[in-house]
Amino acid sequence: MQFNKITQATLVRFRKAVGEEYVLLDKESLENHSHDETEDLRYMPEVVIRPRTAQEISEVLKLCNEERIPLTPRGAGTGLSGAALPVFGGVILSMDRFNKILEIDERNLQATVEPGVINEVFQDAVKEKGLFYPPDPASKGSCFIGGNLAMSAGGPKAVKYGVTKEYVLNLEVVLPTGEIIWTGANVLKNSTGFNLTQLMVGSEGMLGVITKVVFKLIPYPKNNVVMLVPFFSAEKACEAVSAVFRAGIVPSAMEFMERDAIDWVLKYVDGISLQIKDEVQAHLLVEVDGNDMDVINREAERVSEVMMQHDCDEILFADSEQQKAQLWKMRRSVAEAVKSNSVYKEEDTVVPRAELPKLLKGVKDIGKKYGFRSVCYGHAGDGNLHVNIVKGEMSDADWNGKLSSGIREIFELCVKLGGTISGEHGIGLVQKPYMDIAFPKVTLELQKGIKKLFDPKGILNPGKMFP
Ligand code: LAC
Ligand code: ZN
Repeated sequence: MQFNKITQATLVRFRKAVGEEYVLLDKESLENHSHDETEDLRYMPEVVIRPRTAQEISEVLKLCNEERIPLTPRGAGTGLSGAALPVFGGVILSMDRFNKILEIDERNLQATVEPGVINEVFQDAVKEKGLFYPPDPASKGSCFIGGNLAMSAGGPKAVKYGVTKEYVLNLEVVLPTGEIIWTGANVLKNSTGFNLTQLMVGSEGMLGVITKVVFKLIPYPKNNVVMLVPFFSAEKACEAVSAVFRAGIVPSAMEFMERDAIDWVLKYVDGISLQIKDEVQAHLLVEVDGNDMDVINREAERVSEVMMQHDCDEILFADSEQQKAQLWKMRRSVAEAVKSNSVYKEEDTVVPRAELPKLLKGVKDIGKKYGFRSVCYGHAGDGNLHVNIVKGEMSDADWNGKLSSGIREIFELCVKLGGTISGEHGIGLVQKPYMDIAFPKVTLELQKGIKKLFDPKGILNPGKMFP
């Protein structure tokens, strides 16, 4: 891809478009925007621009088109696939000033939000009104709504309530060529034309820059039960997952954690205490929610019966809000704990739920063949297993060479089992070499054609998604 460097003359025009103080060139700003949470990857932008309006973004994009300058939109930088990395330099478009909740419409159970609002800030604001916005990635305390839209982020609640895309009704988007559009309408049903709203969700900032989002909301479930279920076999834990759904229960979370995942959290994260027997190999963290406590207790009882049929050990029922918070903190800290323990690569595998035991076994077998260790955890109820491959004793040569063949085998197994290569972290930079496993050429070409239609000069978040 052929791009131009940013000149002094262009900088003057950027400053005119967004205001002097929102065009950043200092070393610290550039460095802060050179990485996200993906491994230890770093790419320096030439400039960081912090616009406040869709109109300003439109001006900046028109300039970038004119001068063939790459532009990478960025939320909070918590991504795990390198999708916000400015691999060709150019502009980082920071969305952090788009941080307003514009309206919570209690009559229609909808909200209009800017993309730089933090997920948890939005969740808390609607909760105050008795409403629920369920998508809750592990990074909910810092990630932006815009990044959640870019990947159609999931999180533990997705198993019952669905991922980000299920809550998006309408989007205001600045197209790469500078036009500002709305993609749909603020309605719960819509059979009008192609679904541009859903095309935008999950498009990883490659088709346009989202500047407003209209979400649907649901009433907040008033009660829940949280239980931690230890297993002596990780595969048995995985088998129990689909059995719970077959027994007619849809828990509001069904999370899997291998032994190492919890051990590392206990070692690296302060303030969590838990006694685990030596023989325990894995845990399921299960939440059942609703309004009626009698119904919830009956469902939790049914869940524990299914767990016991799968040889679990004694189940811990959280007996206070504080204990529930602790268990969730433990689960949410796994990625961070693994990261602080070793050089690693995180794969976001997903298969139909009942194939989870085969996926886990396959990952371990592939690890033995290639000489890597893995720590697996994630949203088991969705068949979404995060596979953290840790470098450990592996040589640099094997890590940088052989490992990609091992990852390929893992993804091939996912597809063979009816799954695919990312459930919620996206493709971005690090997964793009494997896209040919998920899609044949004809499907990849269709997707590239869509990209070209939206972004004829290829300036918006280039170098991502397609091999
Ligand atoms: C999690 C993130 C890494 O589930 O997706 O913890
Ligand atoms: Zn996850």
